[in-house]
Parts: sequence; structure tokens; C-alpha cells
Amino acid sequence: MRTQVAIIGAGPAGLLLGQLLHRHGIDNIILERQTGEYVLSRVRAGVIEQVTMDLLDEAGVGARMHADGLVHEGVQICVDGVRHRISFKEMTGKAVMVYGQTELTKDLMDGRAAAGATTVYSAHEVALHDFSTDKPRVTYRTGGATQEISCDFVAGCDGFHGVSRKSVPARAIASHERVYPLGWLGILSDTPPVSDELIYVHHPLGFALCSMRSPTRSRYYLQCSLAEDIDSWPDDRFWEELKPRLDDEARERLVTGPSIEKSIAPLRSFVAEPMRFGRLFLAGDAAHIVPPTGAKGLNLAASDVRYLAHALIEHYKDKSDAGLDHYSARALARVWKAERFSWWMTTMLHQISDNPFDRKIQLAELDYLFRSKAAATVFAENYVGLPY
Ligand code: APR
Ligand code: PHB
Repeated sequence: MRTQVAIIGAGPAGLLLGQLLHRHGIDNIILERQTGEYVLSRVRAGVIEQVTMDLLDEAGVGARMHADGLVHEGVQICVDGVRHRISFKEMTGKAVMVYGQTELTKDLMDGRAAAGATTVYSAHEVALHDFSTDKPRVTYRTGGATQEISCDFVAGCDGFHGVSRKSVPARAIASHERVYPLGWLGILSDTPPVSDELIYVHHPLGFALCSMRSPTRSRYYLQCSLAEDIDSWPDDRFWEELKPRLDDEARERLVTGPSIEKSIAPLRSFVAEPMRFGRLFLAGDAAHIVPPTGAKGLNLAASDVRYLAHALIEHYKDKSDAGLDHYSARALARVWKAERFSWWMTTMLHQISDNPFDRKIQLAELDYLFRSKAAATVFAENYVGLPY
């Protein structure tokens, strides 16, 4: 088989890249290790920046998001039982869209199916070859047979555990990492959200987050230890641990119910540099991870894809490699700012340290955020997404 761009991974990064390329007449094949159903069963954050919305529109897959998504003009932060609001609209003139990543992935899959583009699901043993030459190849196994794709470029959109980053010689890549000694225990339930806006909770018992997917579906998280066993968290225990962390009004409004999904996610900050190796380009979680505080993971994947798609379009249409040559530096400049913001929100809101000094610094940081227009503006402009 032959294609122009072989894309590894059918997560949001791979699917969005495929869609943008297809709309510009650039042929691409996606190879995904899992089945489509499995990809759609993963529950991830659901906050979309304005610039990501614009990109989804450019890819022609934004219609359902605009119809069903919830526009949020601010966010709430609750500190030791007292709630404060930061208005995105007032500080930046912008807003974010709350729309589940599962729905977004479905829209991207439907868009790809409508375009008639090829996705190979259950593609096993994907291997990248010769990407330091101008004739890269990708091999994989499906149905007991080995297949080969020759291509012009390989896009490694296969997430943190994917094969693309691991195919690069260790001496050519630098990794920067910070692992936090905690995780998020999340549940999804068909109950109305506790508030119209997200509530990030700082509390001596630990961080919590009240989020949502729709007016009838809620997503809640609790800070937990990494050693936590999910089986020791029946729904009742979750709700009982959440309640004391909330303010009085939220506690009264909280509607509990059976969970329809429950999982634990570790918190990690990670960046691999550079993001280009000859004709292999990394994008999304394959190159970097943020802790979920601030919901930047999907948005960063989209921003890489925007730079990469435009660079590839420039290569084929204008015969210019300027965008490809600048891809890594441009993408990383935005990545590091989102890494900074996610790290800052994480360290400010969680119970991480036993040192009382650290807790005092957290409270001072939060007080400054609520009292200073400059600090609130910095928060808001990062939360709604920095410009490209
Ligand atoms: N071969 C083929 N596909 C692979 C391989 C492999 N060896 N390894 C992983 N994959 C697939 C995974 O099964 C997954 O579907 O690559 C895809 C990567 O998708 P994500 O992990 O969602 O990463 P990305 O598309 O970069 O999305 C970034 O969305 O999923 C969230 O947490 C993620 O918020 C982040 C954002
Ligand atoms: C979510 O709704 O899953 C969510 C929202 C905001 C975050 C993280 C996750 O910062």
C-alpha cells in the first residue's frame, strides 16, 4: 500500500490530523492498535478551548459540538468551603466549551467514515522504518498477515505508550518528566451537575473537581493515592468522600446516583524533545502529557495537529518545507506554556506536601488569584487557551 501520510493512532490527535489533511486532498491512512469501540469507551476530560473549537470547525466536524456542547464563561474555585468565581468573559472576552472527548472522538470517526478515508483498527505490531530517509515505511500485522505501507511522512499520534516515540534512538530525544505522588479517582453518573460551572476544590481532605458532560450527566473527581484499589471504592464511599470537600450550597444541591464509569488516572507532566525526527513527527500525548488539572491534554494535541497539518499542506501545495522545519519549535513553545499552567494549577490545588509552609503558600496563591485582576487575567487567558 502507498499513502502520503501514515498516521499511527486513532485518538483525537490522529483522527483530527487525518480529517484536516483529507480536506486538503492529502491522502492518509490511520493505523490503530485497538478496536473503534475500545477507543470510544475511554472517558477523558471534556473542556475545549476556543482555538480548538475553530480547528474542529476547520476540519468540518464541529456541528454537534456547537449544538450539544455547553458554553462556559467562567469557572469556580472553592477553597476550604468558600466558592470564588473567575469570569473568562470579563478577563479575556472568551469562553470554553464543555463537550465530552468521547463525543468528539465519535464526531471525528463519523467525519472520517463520511470522507471514505481508511482507518485500520486492530493493527498489531506496528513498526516504523526508514523515517530518517525520504522513503519511510510502516509495517503492521492484521488478520495473521504482515502489511506494509510506504509513505512520504509518518505522524506519531499514538499516545504516551505508543510505538512512535520509542522508535527514535535514545540519543536523539530528551525527556523531561515530573510524576506527582497522587491520582484522580473519577466517576461518571447520570445525575444533574451540582453547578452550571466547573468547581475546582482545594480542601484539607484533598482536591476534588465537579465537572459535567451535559445537563443530566456529571463527572466528579477526587484526589487519591496512587496505591488506591478501585474495587475498594463503591459509589457510596465516593459520594461520602466528596461531600465534606464541597461548600454548603454544592453539598445541598449534590444529587448522587450509580456510577456508569469509574477509573483512576495518575498525574504526570512529561515532554519529549524534539517532536520531529527526519520524516517522523510526534503529536499529542505521544510527545507530552499534562496532569488533568486545567484540561489541556486534548487542546495541546489539537494545537500540535494544527501546526503539523498546516505544515504538511504547505509542503504539498506550496512546495515549501518551512512549516515542517519549524514544527517542533512552534509546537513546543505552546506545549511548555500549557505544561507550566497545568503544573501550577496542580501544585496549587492538591494536598501534595506535608510541610505547612507549602500549604500556606497555596493559600496565599489562591487569595492573590481571587483579589488581583492581573492574577485572575493570567489564569483566565491560560484556561481559555493561549493564542497560536
Ligand atoms: N499502534 C497503533 N496505535 C497505537 C499504538 C500502536 N503501537 N499505541 C497506541 N496506539 C493508539 C491508542 O490505542 C490510542 O487510540 O494511539 C491512540 C492514542 O490516542 P490518545 O492516547 O487519546 O492520544 P492523543 O490522540 O494524542 O490524544 C491526546 O486526548 O486521549 C486524550 O489523554 C489524551 O487528552 C489527551 C488527548
Ligand atoms: C472533565 O470534565 O473530565 C475535566 C474537566 C476539567 C479538568 C479535568 C477534567 O481540568
